[in-house]
Amino acid sequence: TKPSKITVLGETFKTDNWTNATPQILNLVGRDLYKNPDHPVGILKNLVEKRFQGLDYTFYDDFKPVVSTYENFDVLGFPQDHPGRSVHDSYYLDSKHLLRTHTSAHEHQCFQRCHTPGYFITGDVYRRDEIDRTHYPVFHQMEGARHWSRKDFITGEELLAQIQSDIDAIPKTSQKDLIVKDVSYDAVKNPKQKYMTMKETDLIGQHLKRTIELVVSEVFNAAKIAAKKAGSTEQYLNEPLKIRWVEAYFPWTSPSWEIEVWWKGEWLECCGCGVVREEVFQNSGKGSDTVGWAFGIGLDRIAMLLFDIPDIRLFWTLDSRFKNQFHEGQISLFTPYSKYPGTIRDISFWLPGKGDEELHTNDLMEIVRANAGDIAESVKLIDEFVHPKTGNKSQCYRVNYQSMDRTVTNDEVNRLHEKTRRDLVDKFGIKLR
Ligand code: PHE
Repeated sequence: TKPSKITVLGETFKTDNWTNATPQILNLVGRDLYKNPDHPVGILKNLVEKRFQGLDYTFYDDFKPVVSTYENFDVLGFPQDHPGRSVHDSYYLDSKHLLRTHTSAHEHQCFQRCHTPGYFITGDVYRRDEIDRTHYPVFHQMEGARHWSRKDFITGEELLAQIQSDIDAIPKTSQKDLIVKDVSYDAVKNPKQKYMTMKETDLIGQHLKRTIELVVSEVFNAAKIAAKKAGSTEQYLNEPLKIRWVEAYFPWTSPSWEIEVWWKGEWLECCGCGVVREEVFQNSGKGSDTVGWAFGIGLDRIAMLLFDIPDIRLFWTLDSRFKNQFHEGQISLFTPYSKYPGTIRDISFWLPGKGDEELHTNDLMEIVRANAGDIAESVKLIDEFVHPKTGNKSQCYRVNYQSMDRTVTNDEVNRLHEKTRRDLVDKFGIKLR
């Protein structure tokens, strides 16, 4: 049964027959993984933003994920019967509000308020979807957009010259690093808009494509460097990155495209984009003199590739063994850890003599390994001190018993641990405390 009201990020909604956001989903709202500089999604966001620093973009990342149906759909020209509007595809709070399904929901506000020619918007987005290792009902997108106003130029030629010089200013990726298969657009199914000339459409399309190619080559080259650093010698690491453009459809862009990246033997769709429709600029108060482009890139699947993360659910784990592996500004490959619970047991003892030599740490490691095998997940020296009067040395080691593929019972842990304690006494003459 539905509650009569739900509260999300401090805002309360009276539920109605559209309400379908579950407590599990609402629980994830506000986690803001993309704002954490040490989280893979945050590291990726910062990597992209860094590439565009100084190139006339504003970076937005604090739009709330609760939006109106106007912002998510109407302002972008979604038809009334578009499947994205359905309760089967989206999470509604009430008939007029939902968890945004894409960062495009903020395009019009950003066109309105930003003082730079371009902007980026990062945020969490929500979709009802299938369940598998690459799909999760919450993921992250980065929207990018750029616009030009005809009013800033005296002649049409001047505007074209400006766009051309903006294209030339985009840092180039060499053919050695990137091979591009381009595509134009279908004049009927994916046409240029009436309010724009062929030449404007062509140049804006080029500016858009070169910009996305820059993002993609930056990100995937970082992935290659990380894989090489981790010791991989696979062939693809020495080949140029291959990408191709394909035509697409979005209600608020025309023409529209998608970029696909050839990565480990398959074409990955990673970013939808297009020339923004006149109506969006009108709805942003910019009017029909504005021309420009927009794209939306999904961060999670790319972060999974970059960091070699096998399951999207890991992004949401609170387990420190996940979180502690990633650090600001660094792309490093994920080291898997067990899904099964661990059991911690300490061993404290007095060393037999006064010297350090009697029991080398590695001797202790060997005994633990001999008894517990791969069930020993880690062994750490957690305490050490010398008795002030006797000069005897005491150590305490902590063993985590944890299997990669099953739950280890308490009885088993007790048995293994007891055997290790006895072996240490027998072989090294330590005194258990
Ligand atoms: N919002 C689109 C999506 O989620 C991507 C997109 C953004 C397409 C901007 C065109 C322009 O798939």
